[in-house]
Amino acid sequence: MTNLPLPDPDALAHSQRLQQAIVEEIAAAGGWISFARCMEHLLYAPGLGYYTAGARKFGAAGDFVTAPEMSALFGAALARQVAQVMALSAPVVLEVGAGSGRLAADLLLELERLQALPERYFILDLSADLRQRQQQTLAAAVPHLLARVEWLDSLPESFSGVVVANELLDAMPAHIAAWREEGIFERGVGLDAAGCFTWIERPATGALLAAAEEIGEQCSLPPGFESEISLANRAWAAEWGHRLVCGALLLIDYGFPRREFYHQQRGRGTLMCHYRHHAHPDPFYLPGLQDVTVHVDFTSIIAAAHPAGLDLLGYTSQGQFLLNCGILERLAELPNDSVDYIRAAGAVNKLLMPHEMGELFKVIAIGRGIAETLCGFVSGDQSRRL
Ligand SMILES: C[S@@+](CC[C@H](N)C(=O)[O-])C[C@H]1O[C@@H](n2cnc3c(N)ncnc32)[C@H](O)[C@@H]1O
Repeated sequence: MTNLPLPDPDALAHSQRLQQAIVEEIAAAGGWISFARCMEHLLYAPGLGYYTAGARKFGAAGDFVTAPEMSALFGAALARQVAQVMALSAPVVLEVGAGSGRLAADLLLELERLQALPERYFILDLSADLRQRQQQTLAAAVPHLLARVEWLDSLPESFSGVVVANELLDAMPAHIAAWREEGIFERGVGLDAAGCFTWIERPATGALLAAAEEIGEQCSLPPGFESEISLANRAWAAEWGHRLVCGALLLIDYGFPRREFYHQQRGRGTLMCHYRHHAHPDPFYLPGLQDVTVHVDFTSIIAAAHPAGLDLLGYTSQGQFLLNCGILERLAELPNDSVDYIRAAGAVNKLLMPHEMGELFKVIAIGRGIAETLCGFVSGDQSRRL
């Protein structure tokens, strides 16, 4: 990791404070915490975690770039799908994990253009720092619509309308299972003789063991296979079974159906860290200064949501979804001799192309009380692969 840019002394001190907090928790817990708990600290420890402290995160000056940060046309295309679901349920949007607020601004602008503005646009984000950034973005981009926007502190008890989340599921803490000759183990975090973080395995128990047994059987996993299981993703999806009255969740993220997620090629899992546009697999590097993510097992999302009473409304690649939502038609509306057009065309290319974000990123729609085919899935729906 010697070739990565070094943080400044303040950032380094901040990272050391978070590291110390995790070390203390490991010691207090008897020498071991689950990786999910460690990831929760790394990303969301109050005032210290990657998302809860003030790191830049998104965009060219941050650590990674998300689709809404690349082009307003992402939100413009998604707006068509949002408008359709609102027309079939209620004129309300809830965005969970809104990052810089860019997607909220783009969605609101396009929905205004389509004369389909929501009455309320709710935002729920775990990060107080990002909530502030969202307020600034929206005040600058859509001051006339700000009165419709409201920040929530928790999921609403009951909700009708559209739930939107881009790259939320990959940012939820995940457990790690290891399938061994002797049985199924959980990979967690302990301390080595020098007091540094190290991986330690313990026999898996409870919900993790049950999930790992099911996956091992379904995917015929060989001994030696290690991968993530997101119990948090499952719980979050199932939670909507109690809360969604009528409407849909539109979840966009990188990942695969189960059989591809737990494929021989990915025998070490999908854990990935992002630091200043460098991707690497070491979650213990500079705690609090880098993003830590796992890919999404989309089969587990519908497998959790369906018993909770929700239907699968569509599943496809991001590229196909955006094409279905008319992103190219929207691009063609820009004056095609402008710098804006060239920039937007380059971004659309990235969003759509299979070797860029078009194929790795997927869109899943789950919901209740929606009988029409959703416009984002009219062509190329891959629900049967889940
Ligand atoms: C990878 S960022 C994506 C941000 C934005 N959606 C984008 O595409 O640029 C993940 C976001 O989800 C938020 N987050 C993670 N878990 C959450 C949860 N359980 N509830 C609400 N927000 C959450 C983080 O604070 C962060 O804003």
